[in-house]
Amino acid sequence: MTFTGKRVLITGSSRGIGCAAAEVFLAGGATVAINGRSAASTQDGIAALGGGERLVAAPGDVGTVAGCNAIVAAAIAAMGGLDVLVNSAGIGDSRPMAECDEEMWDATMNINLKGTFFCIQAAHPHLKKTRGNIVNVASDAGLIGEKGLSVYCASKAGVVNLTRALALELAPDVRINSVCPGYVDTDMVRRDGIEQAADPKAAEQALLDYTPLRRLAHPAEIGKAIAYLASDDAVFITGAALQIDGGTTAGHP
Ligand SMILES: NC(=O)c1ccc[n+]([C@@H]2O[C@H](COP(=O)([O-])OP(=O)(O)OC[C@H]3O[C@@H](n4cnc5c(N)ncnc54)[C@H](O)[C@@H]3O)[C@@H](O)[C@H]2O)c1
Repeated sequence: MTFTGKRVLITGSSRGIGCAAAEVFLAGGATVAINGRSAASTQDGIAALGGGERLVAAPGDVGTVAGCNAIVAAAIAAMGGLDVLVNSAGIGDSRPMAECDEEMWDATMNINLKGTFFCIQAAHPHLKKTRGNIVNVASDAGLIGEKGLSVYCASKAGVVNLTRALALELAPDVRINSVCPGYVDTDMVRRDGIEQAADPKAAEQALLDYTPLRRLAHPAEIGKAIAYLASDDAVFITGAALQIDGGTTAGHP
């Protein structure tokens, strides 16, 4: 995929899926604004991607409107405009309903859903100028329910339907789509999930059993799907929710 001369901002690109997407855009010739919540994590992401002139920093917290505005402003200041916005920043907190409190609800909704909306709002005038596009990282958990993930599921279902509503509102100038990954081998799943379980082997096996293709996705597999939706090959796609989930949403096994 060719992105020569394109300017791409990816929230939550200091590691994980966002970082893998950055790698694909960079390989295609784009300039990419990297975002982590702090200046330090943003620089870690830039270093992991090898540094260089086509990587710029746009640190900030997507959990606040001021943070979203600052991230987009930093990206525009460094790149002079914007062709693609990818909203990948997110958190996943797995708890039974009785253990969910207001703090966890607010953090999940603010980062996953509110942050996505307000980054789009801030970026839209710039994307309108370039007839650019947006890709939101939702989840298979935005399409189907998962036990123990009710708040996360609600936030990601919000991202899927926010994407559809904005596809209508932003057309015909700006396309917007979402990707819905299944379990991906990133810190969110391995370091913060599998490795925290009482029996990590059993926890990993449960995820493999849940997934018809019987493995976790590699972050690059999601990065390539994000780049496809952002590319000129996808010019007639808007409002879509693309599953990259190894079959988790295909039906009952
Ligand atoms: N890993 C999976 O299995 C999986 C599956 C479906 C969807 N997703 C979604 O993909 C996205 C990326 O997840 P990941 O697996 O790469 O997770 P990760 O934990 O590896 O990375 C998350 C990224 O988001 C950033 N981030 C978190 N909170 C932030 C904030 N308030 N402000 C700015 N940046 C913030 C982190 O700095 C990091 O760069 C998330 O939206 C997640 O919900 C992940």
